[in-house]
Amino acid sequence: MKAFILSSSPRQNGNSAMLAEAVRDGLVAAGHDVAFVYANDALSSFLRDCRQCRRSDGECAIEDNFRTVFFEKFLPADGFIAATPIYWYGVSAQLKAFFDRSFCYYAASYPRSAEVIERMKGKRIGLVLSSEETFPMVSGGILSQMQEYARYTRGQFAGVVHGVGNARGDVARDPENPLGQARRFGETFFTRHVSDYQIDTPRRGRVWD
Ligand SMILES: Cc1cc2nc3c(=O)[nH]c(=O)nc-3n(C[C@H](O)[C@H](O)[C@H](O)COP(=O)(O)O)c2cc1C
Repeated sequence: MKAFILSSSPRQNGNSAMLAEAVRDGLVAAGHDVAFVYANDALSSFLRDCRQCRRSDGECAIEDNFRTVFFEKFLPADGFIAATPIYWYGVSAQLKAFFDRSFCYYAASYPRSAEVIERMKGKRIGLVLSSEETFPMVSGGILSQMQEYARYTRGQFAGVVHGVGNARGDVARDPENPLGQARRFGETFFTRHVSDYQIDTPRRGRVWD
């Protein structure tokens, strides 16, 4: 399978990036094809007003690597893993900008938007977080956002790895071993059991054989 990991902290050697790299190692060990991108290398700007800034051929006029990453790494992927530090109880501005900038290509004013929408749909989605604080709701807003993102794009939210740390590399000393969890998350990302039932979903009495 093809996976795309977006590491969205401005600290490219920080905690969430270390966790994202461990997920990548697990995916590679399980035989998957992984594209790994630092959001800072792809994005130089927030979304602008497309009506004013879209080129006459329909393309986004912002000159950075977003288009290449979006079309060549994100759209072809079966799975998308977003790694972010928790900033103000939300995702990094870089990750938010990645989501926002996709609008330029799925909006009806982009000539091939129907094809883009088809290719945005149905991905398996993973989340990698680092934060200083440990209380459970520190990630509540982000979990809701990713759940809604998965629902909206008809994807499947496959799980979360959350490491605690503050200074660069601190996450390696988290006694819950999030780096080990992240590697395991990568190994099982495409095969792990994922459920999100509705009341009338047919099911068996047991989850595990
Ligand atoms: C602008 C900013 C906002 C932050 N907000 C929070 C927060 O709301 N809750 C929290 O637990 N940690 C917060 N932190 C701490 C980071 O989440 C923590 O240091 C994290 O490990 C950084 O990940 P990184 O090394 O991948 O950048 C914040 C840090 C910064 C720089």
